[in-house]
Amino acid sequence: MKNIVLLGCNGQLGKEIQTLVPTGYQLLPYSRADIDVCDAGQLAKICDDQAALVINASAYTAVDQAESEPANAYAANANAVELIGQLCAKTGARLIHVSTDFVFDGEHSQPYQPTDTPNPQSVYGASKLQGEEHLAAITGLEYHIIRTSWVHSANGNNFVKTMLRLFQQRDTLSVVSDQLGSPTWAHNLAEVIWAFVQQAPEKGIYHYADAGVISWYDFAVAIQQESIAAGWPDNQTLISPIPATSYPTPATRPAYSALNCQTTEQALNISRQPWRDALRCMLLELKAQQ
Ligand SMILES: NC(=O)c1ccc[n+]([C@@H]2O[C@H](COP(=O)([O-])OP(=O)(O)OC[C@H]3O[C@@H](n4cnc5c(N)ncnc54)[C@H](OP(=O)(O)O)[C@@H]3O)[C@@H](O)[C@H]2O)c1
Repeated sequence: MKNIVLLGCNGQLGKEIQTLVPTGYQLLPYSRADIDVCDAGQLAKICDDQAALVINASAYTAVDQAESEPANAYAANANAVELIGQLCAKTGARLIHVSTDFVFDGEHSQPYQPTDTPNPQSVYGASKLQGEEHLAAITGLEYHIIRTSWVHSANGNNFVKTMLRLFQQRDTLSVVSDQLGSPTWAHNLAEVIWAFVQQAPEKGIYHYADAGVISWYDFAVAIQQESIAAGWPDNQTLISPIPATSYPTPATRPAYSALNCQTTEQALNISRQPWRDALRCMLLELKAQQ
């Protein structure tokens, strides 16, 4: 039985990872209440777990708030990640760490490769990139960094659940149509993470997102259609496309952040679920919880 430490177990991704533990692995899940990754003393406790591997699903994910509290974003997304990496190198544990499409500037028109040069446009993106760079600099660390995008799940706060709430409250809704990316069901990402655990491909940076590239507007329209099909009330909310310039936010988001996932597909011998099928699965799970 191999011990696996999971940090940030109560997040969207952390919860999915906990539901998919393969046989032969003992998962030790830690929430922020158990281990605050920004507290070096608490974090050092993982050295006692004789873990073969650490999965870091913890992160400071409040993208807009990070602009006004960068120290908190860097503490969790960069400094804590460095310490986690150092502890893993010291104990010989492999590290699986999750990063973001927001490390890119969005100037591409083709999906970003793991080797493309990052150029984050927000504090959140810059703090996550610094975390990646810290790991790459640690001698002897076996690591996989998995960048993902637009994560949603039945458990947690995300765009899908925001739309479902707004459909019940609003007659009209304006959604940004000139930012393109790929929604990712946390369940699929968790499966991929367990495949990394089991298959241990070459160390380095990988990408995973569900298949397909759409705008937030496209996503909102699909959520409306698929949620009604799944049994939500037949709302008449009129969804209109707007440019990002009409919806200013504290953090700048990339206009295009699709991720090329070919190296992940090849390394793990997997194929990606189309984003719309994944959305349908997520909505069915959410419906079953109600
Ligand atoms: N969500 C997205 O759209 C998205 C997109 C691209 C990449 N990602 C990346 O994917 C990963 C998982 O994201 P997610 O969607 O699962 O995020 P999430 O739902 O916000 O979960 C993050 C978890 O980290 C925990 N956490 C925050 N600060 C901590 C600390 N100091 N010590 C310990 N735990 C702490 C949070 O605890 P509390 O519950 O107590 O706050 C939360 O449970 C992250 O690395 C994120 O950067 C996410």
